[in-house]
Amino acid sequence: MEQEELITIKKSVKSFGFYDVKINPTLDLFYEIEKLKKEKNAVLLAHYYQDSDIQDIADFIGDSLKLAQVAKQTKADIILFAGVHFMAETAKILNPTKKVILPDLNAGCSLSESCPEDIFKKFKEKNSDHKIISYINCSAGIKALSDVICTSSNAKAIIESFPKEQKLIFAPDRNLGAYLNKTTGREMLLWNGACLVHENFNLEKITKTKEQNKSAKTIAHPECEEAILRIADFVGSTSALLKFTKTDEAEEFIVVTEAGIIHQMEIESPKKRFIPAPTNNNCACNNCPHMKLNTLEKIYLCLKYEQPEIILDEKLRADAETPILKMLEISKGVGL
Ligand code: 13P
Ligand code: SF4
Repeated sequence: MEQEELITIKKSVKSFGFYDVKINPTLDLFYEIEKLKKEKNAVLLAHYYQDSDIQDIADFIGDSLKLAQVAKQTKADIILFAGVHFMAETAKILNPTKKVILPDLNAGCSLSESCPEDIFKKFKEKNSDHKIISYINCSAGIKALSDVICTSSNAKAIIESFPKEQKLIFAPDRNLGAYLNKTTGREMLLWNGACLVHENFNLEKITKTKEQNKSAKTIAHPECEEAILRIADFVGSTSALLKFTKTDEAEEFIVVTEAGIIHQMEIESPKKRFIPAPTNNNCACNNCPHMKLNTLEKIYLCLKYEQPEIILDEKLRADAETPILKMLEISKGVGL
C-alpha cells in the first residue's frame, strides 16, 4: 500500500486544487517530486516570487519572459508551472500539445483581475486608432484583444517597435505604464490597474530604512508607484534586479519587490545583505498572496494527479498566441 493511502484524499468539488488533502508527513516531498518529474517527463518552472523550497526544486527559475520562452521550447510532456494563472495560461498558449498544470487554480493576479474583457473591449472600440500593448499579467482574453504583449524586461523595446506617431494603449498596469511613458517619452493611454503587492510599499518607511542603511542601494520593480521609483537607485524586472545585485559594487540592497526573489539574490551573492522593503500596516504584504498559494505539498499532488490542468478554447488560444509570438520575436531582435 502506498504511504499516501494511509490518509483520506478528498478533492475539492470545484476542481480548484487539492485543498482537503492531507499528505503523510513522513513523505520526503523533494524526493517524491523529483521521482515524479522523471517518471512523467515533467518540467517544473518557477517564478522568482515562489517560496525558497519551490525555487530549489525547480528545473528553471526566471522572470515572466524567461519562463514563457522556456515553456515554448520545452520537450517535456508536462509543464508544471509554479507561478500564477496567467503564467501557466501563457505556457499553454505557446505550447498547446503539452499538458500544463498549475498547483492551485486560485493563484490569480490583481493586475489580471483589474482588466475584465467586456469593459476592455469597449475601451478598445472607443480608441480604435490606438494599438494595444498589454503587459503579460492579463488573461488570455485580453491578450487576444491586444496587438502585442510585453513583460517588464522587454516593455521598452516593444514600445519602441512602434513609430513615434502611433497612438498606444498600455494595459493593465498604470504604474508600469506611467514609468514607461516617462522613460520612452510616449503618452500611452493607461488602463487603471495595479499590483496589490507593489502598491503596498511605504515611501516614508523606505526613506527611513535608507537613512538607517546609508550604504544600501534601493532597487525597485516598475510595478511600484512613481514616488517609490523616484527614490530608487535602480528600477527593473525581477531578472534585471537580480543581475544588478550581482554586478553592482554595493554590498547592501533595499529590495522593493516581492520578497521571494531575495532567495536567489542570496544564492548568487552570498556575501551581500538584502533588506526587504517595508510595507504599510506592518503586514507581510511584500509576499504575493497568489504566488504563495503554491506549496510543495500542492506541487506533489499536482504532479501525481496531473491536475488542475489549464484548458483553453482553441480559437481563444490561437488569438492570444499571435501577440505573444510578436513579443518573442521583438525580444529576440534585441537579444532578450
Ligand atoms: P517579472 O518577473 O517579469 O519582472 O514580473 C513580476 C511580476 O509581478 C510577475 O507577476
Ligand atoms: Fe500579480 Fe502582483 Fe502577484 Fe505579480 S506580484 S502575480 S503582479 S499580484
